[in-house]
Amino acid sequence: MPSLVVVGGFFGDEGKGKIISYLAQKDNPSIVVRGGAGPNAGHTIEDGDKKYKVRMLPSGFLNKNSRLMIGPGVVVNPDVLHKEVSEFGVEKRTFVDYQAGVIEKTHTDADSGGRLKEKIGSTGSGTGPANADRAMRTLKMAKDIPSLKQYLADVPLEINASLERDENVLVEGTQGTFLSLFHGTYPFVTSKDVTASGICADIGLGPTNVDDVMVVFKSYVTRVGEGLLEGELSKDETASRGWAEIGTVTGRQRRAADFNFDMARRAVMLNGATQIGLTKLDVLFSECAHKQSFDALSDQAKEFVTKIEDATNVPVTLIGTGPGVNDIIDLRD
Ligand code: GTP
Ligand code: IMP
Ligand code: MG
Repeated sequence: MPSLVVVGGFFGDEGKGKIISYLAQKDNPSIVVRGGAGPNAGHTIEDGDKKYKVRMLPSGFLNKNSRLMIGPGVVVNPDVLHKEVSEFGVEKRTFVDYQAGVIEKTHTDADSGGRLKEKIGSTGSGTGPANADRAMRTLKMAKDIPSLKQYLADVPLEINASLERDENVLVEGTQGTFLSLFHGTYPFVTSKDVTASGICADIGLGPTNVDDVMVVFKSYVTRVGEGLLEGELSKDETASRGWAEIGTVTGRQRRAADFNFDMARRAVMLNGATQIGLTKLDVLFSECAHKQSFDALSDQAKEFVTKIEDATNVPVTLIGTGPGVNDIIDLRD
């Protein structure tokens, strides 16, 4: 499909980074473009013995043919961007929209203490205060920052031109549906709408130009920061199930609960999902680790997948069976 939008279905950290990384290699998109809030996101990508952590760049950087873009709706921390660009050696194929917002020290300072940090459990990345300044129309844009000059581009124009040439464009969302400013568990949410519509607005992709929307669910639900997590397990129970995880950006322990079918249904509705990516099936069913075909899964695991499809009426097309980029079952046609 020419344009595929990938978003989180729960509270972020569903494993979108790994899914995007796989899709970038498999579908060979000419552009991988990131929408979403900002460097509050953290994706982890494992490729062989290499482990990458990405906060600013799209997770599709492992495909050397893809141009990496950040849309105008995203707020960028130039320091984080420069560090990742040099770490991954992607100077020549990184592009930031002229109108992307810029996070400055005032924003990270405001975010690392006080109400946002203490009540909401913000990531301290400056993303929320920068978006507040954007709403006040005082935020600087990428075009105002000399160190970003070499990366500036008209991202909406580039992606729509690519689609007109029938090239694949992969759109990377960040956070998750229930962290959306509009649709999430307000006030314990991020500073933007992060459902598929919001992600598309961030990059200038109109609704009629979206071909597919994949919502990514983990095989259980996790949440970092404050806010309700229905059916939350105790720390001990989380650990004994092997579900204990540490956040990529903040190093905090993630809270956990069983897969929530009602939330999954709602996430599918809010995102207009046409496909589901399901990660960490191997964590729920250890016998499924590294499997590459649906037939190779245990009956219990197959039943779980079918139950998700029945509850949502949407096909599960990708299944994660391990942390590696290629630990995946691809059921797409
Ligand atoms: P956000 O943008 O912050 O929401 O990040 P994310 O959705 O990319 O997820 P994140 O990388 O923060 O956390 C997911 C973790 O699960 C990473 O450590 C991945 O390597 C790992 N992971 C992803 N898919 C699978 C899977 O199918 N099985 C296992 N065992 N690990 C996985
Ligand atoms: P902020 O976006 O940094 O202001 O944080 C607001 C809330 O969203 C906090 O509960 C964070 O933990 C959560 N959050 C923000 N970004 C992510 C993410 O990428 N993954 C998981 N949680 C996130
Ligand atoms: Mg994450």
